[in-house]
Amino acid sequence: MASRGNFNSKIGFIAAAAGSAVGLGNIWKFPFEVADGGGAAFVLMYLGFCFILCFPVMVTEIAIGRKTQKDPVGAFGALGFPKWKFLGKMGVLAGVLILSFYNVVAGWAFGYFLEMLMGNFAIGGQFGDYIKDVVKIGAYGAVFMFSTAFIVSKGVSGGIEKASKILMPTLLILIISLVAYAMTLPHAMEGVKFYLVPDFSEINFEVVYSALGQAFFSLSLGMGALITYGSYVSKEENIISSAALITLTDISVAFLAGLMMFPFVAYMSEGNLHEVTGGPGLIFATLPGVFESFGPILGIVVGASFFLLLSFAALTSTVSLLEVPVAYAVDELKVDRKKAVWLIAIIIFIVGIPSLMANGYSPFFSSFITYMGNDNPTDFMTLVSDIANDSLLPLGGCLISFFGAYVWKKHNLNEEIAQGYPNYHGSFVEKFINIMVSYFCPIVLGIIFVLTVLDRFFGIALV
Ligand code: TRP
Repeated sequence: MASRGNFNSKIGFIAAAAGSAVGLGNIWKFPFEVADGGGAAFVLMYLGFCFILCFPVMVTEIAIGRKTQKDPVGAFGALGFPKWKFLGKMGVLAGVLILSFYNVVAGWAFGYFLEMLMGNFAIGGQFGDYIKDVVKIGAYGAVFMFSTAFIVSKGVSGGIEKASKILMPTLLILIISLVAYAMTLPHAMEGVKFYLVPDFSEINFEVVYSALGQAFFSLSLGMGALITYGSYVSKEENIISSAALITLTDISVAFLAGLMMFPFVAYMSEGNLHEVTGGPGLIFATLPGVFESFGPILGIVVGASFFLLLSFAALTSTVSLLEVPVAYAVDELKVDRKKAVWLIAIIIFIVGIPSLMANGYSPFFSSFITYMGNDNPTDFMTLVSDIANDSLLPLGGCLISFFGAYVWKKHNLNEEIAQGYPNYHGSFVEKFINIMVSYFCPIVLGIIFVLTVLDRFFGIALV
């Protein structure tokens, strides 16, 4: 075990896994997905997916990782099913794709930290030009990728653990304070209403699969990141309660981020919420103006802290994304860890360059492809995220639950979960997990995956 490293403590694994889950997905992506998905109806669907569809997949991933103590590709081999290694490889591919564009957005967030430090609150109105500056954003992205690689090269314990334990609670406190402040602003209640009172006429199939993709993305599921982290967990640990804690933490941060954002959006748009198009610029366009209203000094302090902590939250996520291909290269391809880290980081950075240029700088990448049955072209970065988040992750979840229930087999899964959870056998939780991974998850995720691909890429709407 010495060469793999292990989490030092129970709280270490949970903090690191929650650090992986909590990131830009919660604070940047969740609010704009809610805005695009029509508000509270999206939120409800997202919550339902997290508990019913994602939680059992998370338990299965951690169990596979802990049982085999391997990377996602090697894990399927170690259980005796080398044919299933393709599923691990699909996870590695998804990880590479996600990190390639995630790093670009992390660069935006880190750049905003510097802008806030300089008191440049006007940046909110100039977001469109800001992300076109590929040299600057590319440099921030390079700094970010370098930091990620540096942490991963040090191994899982140490860096990741320490950073998440201190910074995550700090971020949470800052967000809660901002929620409290947001509530005092004019039009706040209109924002809260949009966020919390569902209007079911807003639901269409696109909202369904975006909410599902968001749930998988936010929980870091469906690509083996938690197989990898699970491989560092000790046998005494209770997988069910750990997974529950990770899920609850992640959902709470996303929920609070929304509760902060929508009153702010309502305030900045003077209550014209339905005219607000979300999109990736939502928090970046909205927050600087809010921080400005704090006055010059407090505005700089709060604004800079916010974007710095957001960058750290993103860093604990990028670390888990990079860890997957690295664990694969180290365990399966027998590459030296340091070499693997730096080489893969460089490759992913290069893969991300088209995404970097897809936000207005390069017309080619900014209107890269037009999906069938859709009039508007899609940019390269959105294409990558559509493929990875909304398609590969749910497909991965479908196959992982199928694998757990029918290939590895339920009793083996249950056996692994029962280690660290003595009363598991015969419990309600066991029944729930078994029914979900045997029937509900593979079937529902499989159906949604097929419908999503048809609808999004081929313009064939069956529902
Ligand atoms: N969950 C992270 C976020 O919300 C992103 C992330 C990290 C991720 N690791 C992952 C997403 C693995 C999917 C799979 O920001």
